[in-house]
Amino acid sequence: MSKITFKKPGNFIYPVPAVMVSLKDKSGRTNILTVAWTGTICSDPPMAYISVRKSRGSYPMLRESGEFVINLPDEKLVKALDYCGVRSIATVDKWKEMGLHEEESAIVSAPSIKEAPVSIECKVTQVLPLGSHDMFLAEVVAVRVNEQFIDEKGAFHMDRVGLVAYSHGDYMSLGEKLGSFGYSVRKKPLLEKKKPVKKSTFAKVKDTQKPAGKSSSANKKTSGKNHSNKKTGTP
Ligand SMILES: Cc1cc2nc3c(=O)[nH]c(=O)nc-3n(C[C@H](O)[C@H](O)[C@H](O)COP(=O)(O)O)c2cc1C
Repeated sequence: MSKITFKKPGNFIYPVPAVMVSLKDKSGRTNILTVAWTGTICSDPPMAYISVRKSRGSYPMLRESGEFVINLPDEKLVKALDYCGVRSIATVDKWKEMGLHEEESAIVSAPSIKEAPVSIECKVTQVLPLGSHDMFLAEVVAVRVNEQFIDEKGAFHMDRVGLVAYSHGDYMSLGEKLGSFGYSVRKKPLLEKKKPVKKSTFAKVKDTQKPAGKSSSANKKTSGKNHSNKKTGTP
């Protein structure tokens, strides 16, 4: 198989996650922004990043608060995922338009999205200006998951969540499982069993879960402009 070389190199690392980042500024105004330039950057301390253009309405909110929540969407949330990536807080209240609800987070003041199965709370440690995007490096300070995916032994089943991926402009469901970490060198195939997790792992999360219900706040104008490349889906 021969390869051709693009004249201009670009981002071709796909699939990537596309996530719904929820945030709140100091005045209490909240928003959701879709982000595909995101990922894990360190295991210990647990750290993640999001890269955001200065033109986004969310950008000053992020700079001001230094906090955000990465909400992983499931297949049911794909329409909202797209909507929050093509409409700005400058013109709409995305919570209201998509019927999404704010849920109090465990540690950060930014709200989580109640409808999202997984919410990862982050505190910004560094902002790196890179060019088109600024990279917000952040420490993961809390992770909350929908308890329907935790079995009676306390094991969390990410494979049951119905996560989605983003690949070169398209939202994709995940296909069949092809293997598990380390299976290529495993002597005997392991039985499909999840490691039980100590009960105490989730105790704190449950204790800190508070009832949802706040409605979203005012929809003031910001200077946000969108510069996504609609053809290739480059954020
Ligand atoms: C699938 C997808 C991925 C996106 N990824 C990013 C991203 O990584 N960084 C970014 O700055 N904008 C990204 N965007 C664009 C913003 O989500 C979009 O401009 C949004 O309307 C900004 O909202 P705001 O003005 O309310 O902050 C993405 C959009 C979509 C649809």
